[in-house]
Amino acid sequence: MSHDIVVIEGDGIGREVVPAAVDVLEALPVDFEFVEAEAGDAVKERTGEALPAETYERAAEADATLFGAAGETAADVILPLREAVDSFVNIRPAKAYPGVDALQPETDVVFLRENTEGVYSGHENRLSDDLSTLTRVVTSSASRELAEFACEFVDDGRGPAGDPDEGFTVAHKANVMRETDGRFREEVLAVADERDVDADEELMDAFATKLPLDPTQYGVIVCPNLAGDVLSDLAAGLVGGLGLLPSANVGHDNALFEPVHGTAPDIAGEGIANPTAAILSAAMLLEYLGHVEEGQRVRDAVEGVLSDGPRTGDLGGDATTDEVTAAILDRL
Ligand code: NAI
Ligand code: MG
Repeated sequence: MSHDIVVIEGDGIGREVVPAAVDVLEALPVDFEFVEAEAGDAVKERTGEALPAETYERAAEADATLFGAAGETAADVILPLREAVDSFVNIRPAKAYPGVDALQPETDVVFLRENTEGVYSGHENRLSDDLSTLTRVVTSSASRELAEFACEFVDDGRGPAGDPDEGFTVAHKANVMRETDGRFREEVLAVADERDVDADEELMDAFATKLPLDPTQYGVIVCPNLAGDVLSDLAAGLVGGLGLLPSANVGHDNALFEPVHGTAPDIAGEGIANPTAAILSAAMLLEYLGHVEEGQRVRDAVEGVLSDGPRTGDLGGDATTDEVTAAILDRL
């Protein structure tokens, strides 16, 4: 069976790292039908629209989408694209690899970030010259859906420890946002209890100190939308930078895979971006489509290259995107 994959390079280094990820997918014995689609600053400049309706529809109808990054228009692109694939959870693993200089070489955590609401639900208003407001949306249904997913994730041994008994940690700020995070916390812990999954909790500000001091205390971390965005970037800092972090936006029967990083305007166009995050996103795509063995092959190849080189500049090397990709393809 062939899989329909929409490929959206977007802007900046998206145009460099997404082709690398597609090369890796094409090297595997899996049938893909790739369809390219446009989104981001460049298409907005040309047509006035950052996310053409055609791209949205293609992503909604595909088996999965591989996305790079969009620049200034990121919010206009990625938020509707997550909606197009009906995504309720953003999976963001942050793992330190042998051979990569990391602040915390023992880090191995996975964030499960609520992906539809919180402060990213788009209810922002400028009410006067002096006053702007934002409405934070939290529903029991979205909180429970995330928690159900987290319980299955843990039960299936997909957490870093691979051990269902490790459970998960829910990070929140329910002591201050009593109503919104209060609801989130209550529902997530209730689902864990119903499903007999071990769940502990952390206030997210304290967690932001405890995680970098000792990441080995944590495995799967469940959190609201903004917290997941910020805390996973913090974790990127612990493992060697944004060039390493992949992500999956998973929905009910569709998904979108993207590196956590943006367009990296400081290095875009030079051919020196680290393709690891995009290639690991492709590994997540393979696993999502049921090609678990191929996904693991890609991970092994990436880990081999991270360990032995060549490496891009962000990891202290001087290799180009193409050289790193070629080394990964060699190992495959
Ligand atoms: P960024 O992730 O683009 O870059 C942050 C730093 O990390 C830069 O120094 C960059 O060179 C480095 N970096 C990131 N990815 C790298 C890679 N693969 N290899 C080597 N170095 C890498 O974040 P920044 O600078 O905050 O945002 C730049 C643009 O990207 C903005 O216009 C922002 O709106 C957009 N953005 C888009 C996202 C998306 O489309 N999902 C996500 C984050 C930012
Ligand atoms: Mg972010």
